[in-house]
Parts: sequence; C-alpha cells; structure tokens
Amino acid sequence: MAFHVYVTSNEVPEEALDIVRQVAEVKVNDSDGTPSREVLLREVVDVDGLFCNINEKIDAQLMDAGKKLKVVASMSVGFDHIDQAAATARSIMTTNTPGVLTEAVADETLALMLDVSRRIAEADKYVRAGKWKIKWTPMLMVGRDVYGKTLGIYGLGRIGVAVANRARGFNMKVIYYDVFRNQELEKKHGIEFKSKEEVLRESDFFSVHVPLLPETRNSIGAKELAMMKRTAFLINTARGGVVDEKALIEALQAGTIAGAGLDVFEKEPIEIDNPLLKMDNVVLAPHLASGSIESRTAMAVLAAKNLVAALQGELPTNLLNKDSYRGKPNPASKS
Ligand code: DGY
Repeated sequence: MAFHVYVTSNEVPEEALDIVRQVAEVKVNDSDGTPSREVLLREVVDVDGLFCNINEKIDAQLMDAGKKLKVVASMSVGFDHIDQAAATARSIMTTNTPGVLTEAVADETLALMLDVSRRIAEADKYVRAGKWKIKWTPMLMVGRDVYGKTLGIYGLGRIGVAVANRARGFNMKVIYYDVFRNQELEKKHGIEFKSKEEVLRESDFFSVHVPLLPETRNSIGAKELAMMKRTAFLINTARGGVVDEKALIEALQAGTIAGAGLDVFEKEPIEIDNPLLKMDNVVLAPHLASGSIESRTAMAVLAAKNLVAALQGELPTNLLNKDSYRGKPNPASKS
C-alpha cells in the first residue's frame, strides 16, 4: 500500500476503517482510550494520514514529528484541538465531520433541558434511594415547564437551528444571538434575532451552540450569568471553555440561575472534586451529545472519506484549512 494511516482509537467502527484500508495500511491504537503524547509522537513519524478525535492535541510539535503527514481527519465537528495555522503552514489538510451529528446533538440538548427543568435525574436518584414514601403529594419535586417558554440560542449554526426546530414542538418562543445575523434562517424557522444581552435576559433556557474560538472562550461569565433570570437554565452541549465554569458554579450556588444541563466541561473528564458533582440542580453528561450509534458511525465514515480523499489528492468534502489544498499532484511532474 502506498499510504500509512494511524487511527488513535480502537473503537472506530470497522465500516470506517474499511474505507481507509482501500487506499492505506492502517494501524489502530491497540490500547483503550487515547494514546499517550509519547506514543502519538512516535506513531505519527511514518504516517501519511492521522485519523483522530477531540482527545488528541494536534499541534505544531506533532506535525513536525509527522514529516510525511498530509492529512489530519478528526472524527468530530469541533476542531479546537487542531492548530489550523500550523497545519496550513505545513500544507497538512485538516478535516472535520459537520452535519452528520446535528440531530443527535440537538436531541441531547432537548433531553438536558427537559431533564434539568423537570428534575428527572434527581428524581431517579430519589426513587432508587428508597426515599419515595407517599404515593402522591402536590409539591413533591416539582420542576418548571418547558412548554411555551423562551429558548435563547447562542450561536445559530446547524445545531442551533435543529434545536430551534425541536423547540417549536414545545410551543417555545425562540430567540438567538450570533455574531452573524441570518435573516433567511430567521424567516424560515421563525426565530428572532436579539442582542446577546437581550437573549440572556429574556431566556428561560439559554443554550450554547458556538464553537470554541479565542473570541468565544469564557464569553459566558459572571457578568452574563448575572443577566439571566433566576428561574432560567443554562444548557451547554458545545464546548466547556465557552462558559467560565468557576463563574457558573458560583451562579448556581448563589441561585443566580436555577440550574444547568451540561455535556461539556472546562476540564474533561470532570475532576472528582468539582462542585458541580454535588449539585442537584445540575444534570451532567460525559461529552456524549453526538453519542448515538447512527451519528457516531456516520462521523467515523465521514472522517474516513475525508482522509481518503485527501490522500488521493482530491479536495476533501470537509476541508477546514482551504489554503492547505495543493490540488491533485501532476503525474507528469517528477518532484
Ligand atoms: C464534536 O464532534 O466536536 C463533539 O464534541 C464530539 O462528538
């Protein structure tokens, strides 16, 4: 085989690996979880392609170690783990997997909204702990309605739109803030654009859907949380770094907001002494918003297709750093 590819997880579905095997010799990380930095630096040395995910930090040092590296294909929509400038400077193509996980992430966003507002996780613990003693009492574990409330979307990309569409089924008013206003989407989906402050102040549910960028890091901090209603919930299925976690913990402790549904955290896995673990008004998930079999399989297959296209000199569908693409090599050229 002309090419060599290293796959960082031994859980990538065979269906995806088979696509890569058509053009390359594939080595899969033989240990569970993510390879150590040392192993990754070693494995990248002789490969043309790297099939990775959000666990691996793909930086200049790693790219320099991978002298033959032509493509880094990540099985994720987020790409804050890849230094795009470093990749472009080295003509290494980077790809992600947008689109195929949109609905799964939107489903989980709604699940977190319902769970935290109706106290489902808390109620489950209550029942299992044998605390349910009286058949029915008027105010036992009462939560708050989702139906008819106002949903604020922070970042109106594919996932934000998919969440808005689901919210319509709950008769919710949907407002949004994004650095790019999109009037076409507003009309099509019945969504209203507002300033970030207005969205924070008016939402009963404030849901984060922006990518993690230098401009969005900690863009929801103490000041923003203080603008929210005391009865409102914050939902984050995007990236932990967008919300200042220390400020969020303080806001939850002080009752500045009512609760939170969180799939992502500043540090993952979450540390055992994180105060969020002790809060009943918080629902936690281990970064699995895209975690349906259908979605994860589609992500792996798309990453594989992107990787193969790049190796063959074709333009990968989901190329992130357009300037890295040099076009198909000219077979007549000797260099
Ligand atoms: C992504 O795709 O970026 C998710 O965070 C992992 O599924």
